[in-house]
Amino acid sequence: MKTEILKADTNSIEKASSLLQKGEVVALPTETVYGLAGDATNGSAIKKIFEAKGRPMDNPLIVHISSFSMLEGLVSEVNDDARKLMENFWPGPLTIIMPKGKNVCDEVCAGLSSVGVRMPANFVAREVIEKSGILFAAPSANTSGKPSPTTADDVYEDMKGKIPLILDGGECEKGVESTVVSVLDDVPVILRPGIITKEMMEKVLGKEVLISRAITEEVKNDEKVLSPGMKYKHYSPKAEVIIVKGDFEKFRKFVEEDKGEKVYALLFDEEKVSIPFLSYGHKNKPEEQAHFLFSRLRELDRLGAKKVYARCPDKTGVALAVYNRLVRSAGFKIIEL
Ligand code: TXA
Ligand code: MG
Repeated sequence: MKTEILKADTNSIEKASSLLQKGEVVALPTETVYGLAGDATNGSAIKKIFEAKGRPMDNPLIVHISSFSMLEGLVSEVNDDARKLMENFWPGPLTIIMPKGKNVCDEVCAGLSSVGVRMPANFVAREVIEKSGILFAAPSANTSGKPSPTTADDVYEDMKGKIPLILDGGECEKGVESTVVSVLDDVPVILRPGIITKEMMEKVLGKEVLISRAITEEVKNDEKVLSPGMKYKHYSPKAEVIIVKGDFEKFRKFVEEDKGEKVYALLFDEEKVSIPFLSYGHKNKPEEQAHFLFSRLRELDRLGAKKVYARCPDKTGVALAVYNRLVRSAGFKIIEL
């Protein structure tokens, strides 16, 4: 199959819409990362998404909507917590897990009785929903296990020959995927951290929001998890990534002693070392780190990096989202100095 990349405009959005209506899969930008979209009511379209990504069939997808009325039939209940979160954070990078409605096919939910829904803020994503009338399910548009794509070229790298169309809407604004929060129980639980933080949601809900342990810790193969995605290898470039904790001077001495070939450091903007390095944002600006992390991991692959020593982000606020992605890309390999 030939994979076309078209700059997102009226014509290409029209084309993407008609492909979606025919049960095809197209890649498109959202404000978080690029998504691989297919009709959430069409089981055979959804199967194509799983195939193109090589995604395990037990890992459910997120459904994207552009107006509140589209919740009808998609979810069976919107409780108070869900309503407050939608009113405050939609459109935007927040996915809410709610009880599944009758119009969403089982393949999307991977057999669960719940469904994750989000209303993206990105213009192109919204236009496609509006023009096609299709609520699309979309995982990140990467090959399963690789860093999520934040440009159309990243998507092409993984999806070339597998899908007919990539809409190019430029670089994604946020750079990490949406926060995933479950409101199925009285106490909301964050299943994946993102730009919408625990503190932001607690303020709106007036109660505690829990953070799933699987966000910062490794999940054993046979362990039961609230979100199936948490047990899989994730965000991994070809290079071996190792997080090195400790102050910068210790970090610098440590990495400069490794004279190996194709060894890189992944630093904060204000730092320098004598081995090859890339930086992923200012030390005190987690939004910047979120914006750059995935694109830097992909760049390290293009450079042929074999080993990457990474500076460690914080674990609070937005930085938790960065930590969560980096520690997974490192396969939980951490050196404490
Ligand atoms: O920002 C995003 O959310 C992007 C863009 C394209 O919207 N999408 C995305 O989808 O990141 P994906 O499939 O890569 O990640 C969805 C995560 C997975 O970890 C999955 O296990 C979890 O959400 N998830 C989806 N539905 C769920 C459900 N019903 N219960 C628990 N976890 C769910
Ligand atoms: Mg993903």
